[in-house]
Amino acid sequence: MKTSPTSLADCVPADPVAAVTHADPYPFYAELRAGPPLVWNERLRVWVASRADVIESVLLAHGALHVRPAAEPVPRAIVGSPAGEVFGHLVRMNDGAAHQAHRPALQRALAGLDLDAVHAAALQVARNVPTEPSSDALFSMPVRAVAHLLGFVEETLPQVDHWMRDFVACLSPLSTADQLQAASVAAGELMTRFELLTASAPPRNGTPLAAVLAESDTGAPLSRSLLANLVGLLSQTCDATAGLLGNSLIALVREPSLRQTARTRDGVQAIVEETARHDPSVHNTRRFAIEPITIAGTPLAAGDAVLLVLAAANRDPAFNPDPDNFKLIRERRRMLGFGHGMHACPGQALACTLAAAGLDALLHRQPDLDAISARGWRYRPSANARIPVFH
Ligand code: HEM
Repeated sequence: MKTSPTSLADCVPADPVAAVTHADPYPFYAELRAGPPLVWNERLRVWVASRADVIESVLLAHGALHVRPAAEPVPRAIVGSPAGEVFGHLVRMNDGAAHQAHRPALQRALAGLDLDAVHAAALQVARNVPTEPSSDALFSMPVRAVAHLLGFVEETLPQVDHWMRDFVACLSPLSTADQLQAASVAAGELMTRFELLTASAPPRNGTPLAAVLAESDTGAPLSRSLLANLVGLLSQTCDATAGLLGNSLIALVREPSLRQTARTRDGVQAIVEETARHDPSVHNTRRFAIEPITIAGTPLAAGDAVLLVLAAANRDPAFNPDPDNFKLIRERRRMLGFGHGMHACPGQALACTLAAAGLDALLHRQPDLDAISARGWRYRPSANARIPVFH
C-alpha cells in the first residue's frame, strides 16, 4: 500500500530539516539519495548523507566523528544550569571515556526487560492517561510507562511526565528563554526525585533500576552522572516514542485495510514496527568531525558537521526492497531510525512495545479514524522529530 500525498505535500521542503515536519518528505528524500553520497547544504552549513551505506559508514567512524561539536559539548543556552549538568552527563550526547563507562549498565538495564510484562504494565498506565488533548496523550503514555518501570509510584507519574516534557524542550535549538528556564527547574527536580528513588528500598532484581544500581558500590549513593542518565532514559523516550505512536495511528488513519490487523496485539505490534521504518519519528541525527576524515570519497575537515537523514535511509531500495510500500511482513526489515554503531539506541524493542501498548489503549477508546482523517494533522515544530498534532 502506498501512502497518498496530501495537498500540503505539493510544495517541496526547503531543506532536510524542513523535511522533518513536511506532509510528505519522501519524494524529496529520494532525490537526495539519487545525488552525491555527501552533499554540502549551504543554508544549513552541513554535509548531508541520505543513503543507507553512507550513513552506516559515518556512524561507524566514531573515532573521528562525534555526537557534539568539540567547541560546544553542551548547548550554550543551558551551560551552567541544572539542564546543562544533565545534558553533559548523557551517554547519548557525549563520546568521552567517562560516558563510555556507563553505556553497558544502560544497555543491560534495557536488554533485560520482559517485554510481555512491559506491554501489560504500559497498557495499564496508558489507559489511565487522560483522553484529551489526544496529542498530549502521545507523550504521556510512553513517558509514564517508563517512569513506572523505573520505580515511580502511580501518584507521581503525572508530575514526572510534566517535568520531563519541560526538560526535553531544552534539547531543541528552537527553545525559547521561558522553555529553557522551565527545563532547568525540571532537570533539578528530576535529579532529586531519582536520588530519592535510588536511596530508598532496593529495587527488585531484573528491573532497569537494579541493573543501573549494580554499577555503583553497594551502599554508596548513585553518582550524579548515573542519576543524569536515568533522567536520560525518560528524555530519550519522550519525543521519539510519542512520534512513533502518533505516526502508527496515522498509518491506520490513512489505510483502512490495516484496521482489521489492529484487532490483535501481534497486528498492532507489526503496524508499529513497519511505521518505525516507513514513517519514523526520528528523521535525522548529526555528527561533527573532530579531525579530518574522508567519507565515501568526500574529504571532511575538522569542525565539519554532517546531517544524517535516517528516514531517507530507511527507504533506500538498496537497504529495503520495495521501500515505499507499507508492508506488515518483510523478510528482513532494516532501519536506521534507531541509529547504528556505538550510539545505537538500546531502547528500540522497549520503544516499539510502548508504542504498541499506547496504540492499543488509543484504539480501545474507539476513536473515529475517518473523522481524524477528515480533520487532518500537522507536525510539531522540530529539527529532527516527526510528531503529529491532530486537529
Ligand atoms: C521510537 C522511539 C525511539 C527512537 C526512534 C530512538 C532513536 C534513537 C537514536 C536514533 C539514537 C542514536 C542517536 C545517534 O546516534 O545520534 C538513540 C540513542 C539512545 N536511545 Fe533511543 N530511541 C527511541 C526510544 C528510546 C527509549 C524508549 C529509550 C530508553 C528508555 C532510549 C534510549 C536511548 C539511549 C540511552 C540512547 C543513547 C545510546 C548511546 O549513546 O549509547 N531510546 N535513540
